[in-house]
Parts: sequence; C-alpha cells; structure tokens
Amino acid sequence: MKKHRNKSIVQITDPDIEKYAEAHTSGESEFIQKVISSSDDQLQYIDMLSGRLVGQLLKMMVKVSGAKRILEIGTFTGYSALMMAEALSEDGEIITLEMNLKYQKIAQSHFDKYDTKKKIKMIKGNAQNTILDLTGNFDLVYLDGDKLRYSYYYEKIIPLLNSGGLIIADNVLWDGTVLHPEDKKAKAIDEFNKLVRDDSRVEQVLFPIRDGVNLIKKH
Ligand SMILES: C[S@@+](CC[C@H](N)C(=O)[O-])C[C@H]1O[C@@H](n2cnc3c(N)ncnc32)[C@H](O)[C@@H]1O
Repeated sequence: MKKHRNKSIVQITDPDIEKYAEAHTSGESEFIQKVISSSDDQLQYIDMLSGRLVGQLLKMMVKVSGAKRILEIGTFTGYSALMMAEALSEDGEIITLEMNLKYQKIAQSHFDKYDTKKKIKMIKGNAQNTILDLTGNFDLVYLDGDKLRYSYYYEKIIPLLNSGGLIIADNVLWDGTVLHPEDKKAKAIDEFNKLVRDDSRVEQVLFPIRDGVNLIKKH
C-alpha cells in the first residue's frame, strides 16, 4: 500500500497481525482485484480504498443482513461499492455519493465494466447537499466520506434508516489520534463516536480493525 500523501500513517494494529488477518480473510474476486490495480495505475495514492478487511466485512454484513437498499458516502474509485454489490441480491440497489470529479470518472468506468447488473448509482456533488435530496429508506449505510462531517451525516441518515438497519462508519480511530484529539478531524471523529455511544436510538460496537470501524444498529 502506498503511503498516505507521502507520510507514514500510524498503524493501529501490529503490521504483522494486520498482514496475517488479511492473509486469512477471503480474497477479493478477480474483478475487484482489477479495480484495485486500475486504481493504483491511475492515482498516485490509493490508501483511501477501504482494503480487504473492511471490504470483506462490508460484503458479509450485506449478506447476513439481507440489506437491499444501501447508501454509501464517499465512493473514491468504487472498491467498497463493488464489494457490497457482489453480495447484494438482484433487485438490490446501492446509491453512492462522491464530489471529486477525477474519482467520479474512475469509479464510473469501474461501475460500467464490473457492475454488470447495474445495481450502483453514483450521485455526483457535495454529499452535504446531495444527502438532503435522498428519498426512501435504507437498510445499510457505509459512512466513509469527509471525516469532519460524520456527525452531520449521521443525523441525516438516522431518519432514513429502517428499524434494524445498519450504519458502518470507517476510520473511527483516525490513526489512533482520537485518544488525545488535537486536530479538527480527530476531534470531529471523537465527537461522532461519543454522539453514537450516547444515542438511545442505536446500539453499536467499535472494532479496532484497520483504522477503526463503528458498526451501528438502529433499534
Ligand atoms: C475514504 S474515501 C472512500 C473510499 C471508498 N469507500 C472505498 O472503499 O473505496 C473518501 C471519499 O469521500 C469523498 N468525499 C469527501 N468529502 C466529500 C463530500 N463532501 N461529498 C462527497 N464526497 C466526498 C472523497 O473525494 C473520497 O473519494
């Protein structure tokens, strides 16, 4: 994996444990491997891509929950949307929100090639606005967009989420900086984790895998 903007990122899990966990987690399909290598060919850094552990967790959560309508905030090059699409039933739908033009173009080319059942629809624009136009309810939401706005998205998502529905929020340990939050993003993510913990509408478990994943279920 390339370094994040050329700086080493703090790894929460021991790198050898992470490697072992990945080696003993189901591998990506041939299509998804092509998405990873195509992303790597076209971009200088692909560390935003969720990676095998989170990708496989998403795929399994879609399978075991039987989710049919999924929302993703933060498409990047389409890896996580395509992982979830692999587990989604024929009549399922994924709406994914992305504002970066370059990433939109790359993701759309991946969806055109690999989302053969046309289950994924990308909504282009700033998710802070596009989320306000969404209609209908969702069974599962993958929250992986701008970290400063996790609490904002959460409050918008909860009313759209079916009872028993899931939110999976990535990067909730933010390289471990949530322990002593100093910068804006660490503070925002720490506030989000506390908002969720203190919210009687949900129950949740924060997994210290990769950069931290908060699995939240609405009552
Ligand atoms: C961590 S990446 C998503 C990775 C993707 N889920 C995956 O696993 O491949 C975060 C993405 O959110 C997008 N993003 C950030 N702020 C956004 C906003 N306000 N509206 C829409 N997209 C945004 C970024 O451009 C980036 O592509």
